[in-house]
This record gives sequence, C-alpha cells and structure tokens, in this order.
Amino acid sequence: MALSDGLLRVRLRAIEYGAPGINLYTFESLDGQPLPPYEPGAHVDVVMSPDLLRQYSLLWPAAEPSQYRIAVQLAEVGKGGSRKLHFESVVGATYEVSAPRNHFPLTPSDEAFHLFAGGIGITPIISMYRQLKASGRTVFLYYWAASAQHMLFHEALCHEMEGVQLFHTRCGGEAPPRLKDVIATLPHSAQLYCCGPQGMVDEFDQLTLDRPEANTHRERFSATTDALQAGDSFRVRLQRSGLTLTVPAELSLLQVCEAAGVDVAYSCEEGVCGACEVKVLSGQVEHRDTVLTPKQRERSESMMICCSRGVDDSLVLDL
Ligand code: FES
Repeated sequence: MALSDGLLRVRLRAIEYGAPGINLYTFESLDGQPLPPYEPGAHVDVVMSPDLLRQYSLLWPAAEPSQYRIAVQLAEVGKGGSRKLHFESVVGATYEVSAPRNHFPLTPSDEAFHLFAGGIGITPIISMYRQLKASGRTVFLYYWAASAQHMLFHEALCHEMEGVQLFHTRCGGEAPPRLKDVIATLPHSAQLYCCGPQGMVDEFDQLTLDRPEANTHRERFSATTDALQAGDSFRVRLQRSGLTLTVPAELSLLQVCEAAGVDVAYSCEEGVCGACEVKVLSGQVEHRDTVLTPKQRERSESMMICCSRGVDDSLVLDL
C-alpha cells in the first residue's frame, strides 16, 4: 500500500451514535500532541487492514487540535471498511490514518454560498457551513434525508443554525422541493457546493452545466459503478520514464505502472480520492473517477490512473 503522505498513529477515543446506520468516530494522537491541521472538505485515509483503506471526511472544527472526528455510514456493499469500523472497532484501539487531503476546499468569494447535502454528505457540508458562518459569510444549507430521525446532526441543524432548510423525502404529505427547484432560484454568481449520493451529485452536475465552473463544487463519497470494471486493452507512453506499456483488459493503468517499477502515488484505488492523478500530455481518456468535474473531463488535462483508461493506443502521460 503506497500513500503519498506519511501515516499517523492514532487512538480511537470515542464512538457515538449519529443516525440510523451512521456512527461518529473520534481519533486522537497517542501523545496528545496536535495532529496536522485541516480545512472543511478535507478527508483522511483510515487503514482498516494491510490491504484496505477507506477515505472519510473530517468534521470541522475538531474539538481538540489532537483529535480527528469522522462520520461513517454502514455500507450495504463494498469492501467492508465501514463494517470493520461498525462491528469490530473498540475504543482504545490504535489505527493508522493519513495526513488530511482536501479535494473539496472552499473557494474564497464575496457571493452567497449555497451548500447542498444528501445523506452522509452532510459531513463536509456542515463543516463548511460552520466555517463560513464563523467568518461572517452569507451561507444557506439544504439537506435531504429520509426523515428527521435519519438526519445526522439534526438537533444542531434545527436549533443552532440559521439559513438551514431540511427536507424529508420519506415522510408522506407534500413532496419537498427538489435540488433542481432550489438551484433554479439561485443567481449564476452564487457559490454552490454539493456532497451526497451519486445520483444527487450527477443531477447537480447536470443542473449546473451552464454556470461558471469556478462557482460549482462537488464531492462524491462513493465510486462510480464502472470505476472497477474491466475495459479494453490499450497502450500508454510514459514520457518521463521513457516506457511504453500495455494495459490488459483486466488490469488498471496503476497496476501496470507499479508492476513496471514506476513510482506512483495512490490510495483508494476506486477513483474517489484523487491521490493518483497524473497529467495527460496527449491522447483520449475514458474517465471513470468521481474527482474530475464534467468540464475537467472534457479538457482531459489529467486522469486518475487507478480507474480511468486510454480509449486507444494514443495516450501519453507525464510519468
Ligand atoms: S487512488 Fe484514489 S482516485 Fe485513484
């Protein structure tokens, strides 16, 4: 397992109930010293076993500089990272986590901020809300979940925060406004941030295609369904290494680079974290990650080599 950042040893200090299927985990440094600082939108890799690590958004602000707090939803499918935390973790156990990385940072702006969350996507969104409020910005938060009971931080969102709208999707009665209804009312100058399930973020991307790229920001917390599928075989030229490699249908470009001894950083291997991003010098890419925006995919200036593939044999990378 290769990480672009060094690993930190931490102790699991507390496990709390958050909402049905969601627990909150607080880690702390072993010696009480501050952990590396972070901003809203940052995540850490948590090492579950030697060959399994998962990415989780950090809640901001940390209660103590020596602590990190994450929310973990029990996944029905997947490699079992959430099951390990939900069913096997014990308070006091030590874990390894990466230093924080942030592919979903807040961009400074004088415009109003509108933050959209679905399900567990509230973790980075509530962190952003808190920082923006603390710095005196105009901010609105919209959160969709099945019911009040299913909403993480429901109490705080209801009673401590202004500009928050909570939508319950399974409570009968009048249907709540949808994402498109809210976005349609907002000026193109507004700063929009979205984090939620794949369908919600796909819809957000579609609804914001005609808005300035600098004003729309999103993060997915799960891989696309095609990220881990096999594809066609293709050839790739690694410019700096002077190598031409063939990527067979059943292997990823990342796996082939590693086997060839090329030094590449990576983490999630699912196209979610952005650690394996490599500059594309020429050639066509079939993008399968959830990191790049639709416009970044169009420009195709970089690719996630853990899941995305060359369309033909013309791909040349800055590796
Ligand atoms: S390793 Fe995470 S996106 Fe490729």
